[in-house]
Amino acid sequence: MQTNYFYRIYLLLVIFVNAGATVDSNEQSNVGVKVFGPGWDNPQLIFPSRYFFVQHFSDKRVVRVEIEGKVGENVAANRKDCRIWTQVFNETNFDFDMIIVRYKLMSDRCSNGVIIKLFDANNELLMKKETSTAIYAEECVCHNLRWNELMNCDQNSEIYNQLFADLRTFNNSKFNFENSLEEMKRRYAPYTKSYSFCHYAIVNNEIYRKCYGEYVGFAQFMDDMLISLASKTRLPNTQLIVNLGDWPLSDTRRGSIAMPVFSWCGSDETFDIVLPTYEITESVLNMQGRVSLDILSIFGRQNGLPFNKKTSKLFWRGRDSNRLRLKLVDLSKKHPKLIDAALTNFFFFRDEIEKYGPSVSYTSFTDFFNYKYQINVDGTVAAYRMPMLMAGTSLLLKPVSKYYEHFYHLLRKNVHYILVDQELDELLPILRHLIRGKQYSAKKDELPASDEEQAAIVHNMRKFVLKYLLPSHIYCYYHKAIVEYSSLLKDGEIKVSKEMQLVYTAKSKKCNCNKNDANKDEL
Ligand SMILES: *[C@@H]1O[C@H](CO)[C@@H](O)[C@H](O)[C@H]1NC(C)=O
Ligand SMILES: *[C@@H]1O[C@H](CO)[C@@H](O)[C@H](O)[C@H]1NC(C)=O
Repeated sequence: MQTNYFYRIYLLLVIFVNAGATVDSNEQSNVGVKVFGPGWDNPQLIFPSRYFFVQHFSDKRVVRVEIEGKVGENVAANRKDCRIWTQVFNETNFDFDMIIVRYKLMSDRCSNGVIIKLFDANNELLMKKETSTAIYAEECVCHNLRWNELMNCDQNSEIYNQLFADLRTFNNSKFNFENSLEEMKRRYAPYTKSYSFCHYAIVNNEIYRKCYGEYVGFAQFMDDMLISLASKTRLPNTQLIVNLGDWPLSDTRRGSIAMPVFSWCGSDETFDIVLPTYEITESVLNMQGRVSLDILSIFGRQNGLPFNKKTSKLFWRGRDSNRLRLKLVDLSKKHPKLIDAALTNFFFFRDEIEKYGPSVSYTSFTDFFNYKYQINVDGTVAAYRMPMLMAGTSLLLKPVSKYYEHFYHLLRKNVHYILVDQELDELLPILRHLIRGKQYSAKKDELPASDEEQAAIVHNMRKFVLKYLLPSHIYCYYHKAIVEYSSLLKDGEIKVSKEMQLVYTAKSKKCNCNKNDANKDEL
């Protein structure tokens, strides 16, 4: 990219002028690399997997990363006490020219802290970061009242415009939680097979819940996020309703009141308070563990080729959870030079397998990015792979839809992605334009034609991911949502009924850092 190139030259000049300066972790541009992210800025902050970025601006390049527990007086004990698993993703062939480093504590703590070293190709130490106190694993309870400040949660971020818009409905004197819960139970609890939701109560940083419906397994995602937050900081006393199903539930049909339901998907017709989806939430909580796909690994992996070397086709795989997906497959059968779309599973439209089948075997998600174009077609609701597609290196197409996730409101067409009409009627002319050049679409002046213009949109989309969709942003959003929502509840004691089950107390975690530390509630 042009600007990037000039920026590099500028930095080279700065580096030249500064030549001879000593290596110092605070003077990052001296060595032509910029290091940022919570796992570097503040290793004491607990994450399931701590992470940071090393961006290159010159020929000086970090090629090796070493992260280990610092050794104290009792060396043998220290070695055992601190186990760290480090992963490095190499994005140097792509637009940000950086490596992504993440490290997970496999032991409860590193008693003497950690030391992070970044080396160049000559094995020269470029930068170093040390902590002076112990660091702890996700499994520990380490309260910090300044957690959200240390997390660098930007309280004024425009990402919260969605949250405040969602809360507006309940920001009035008529809103009453008990009434809403009763309404929720009356309308949805009887239909146990179709709906499931939980009533959570948080009192003195202990978490309780009662769930309704037959399929309540998805409560795990909310439990895990709340537990992770409650073990890091103090949550307000509050109670909330969480929808475990796909469809948003807070509608005002038949004159009923809008209910403050937290959901993973919103729609233009409902009043649910939208949270980051369980999919991205889980990928944050189980990163570098159980889940294989997450924002950082997709962002940083060598997923396919540079944009201009990718196959010039639209690529899509998924289940048959929406008729529009069948239409996409049909278009693909008729226009195989433009589209490679196929279903991996028939469930909803089994009787149409003749026409839209056969189902194809699974394609690894990173292989999606061997193609220039991706499309995110709704499933039952918004397809939650959106953030993962945005972390990739292909140009994203998105049909108009009434369903949205918590961040869609900040996406701009032709800046971050290409907008397609709801019925995919414009898909072919748009693809012809993207693939073959200008003359094919009525919107020829708006749409990017060259590889460079298209790659620039991919770059904007990836910048969006770095700005709004990293693990820290997901944590901040949940925290902010709970705090702001709770401010709308009327004062009064929160009743924990006998039916509610205890989900978390500080004692349910296996290690407690505050117990051992002199400076409680302080990192
Ligand atoms: C990343 O890839 C580049 C080019 O393939 C290589 O030169 C570099 O050593 C790699 N860096 C790391 C940290 O693996
Ligand atoms: C509720 O409305 C008041 C007055 O407009 C506003 O100051 C406050 O920030 C709102 N609270 C939330 C959580 O939206």
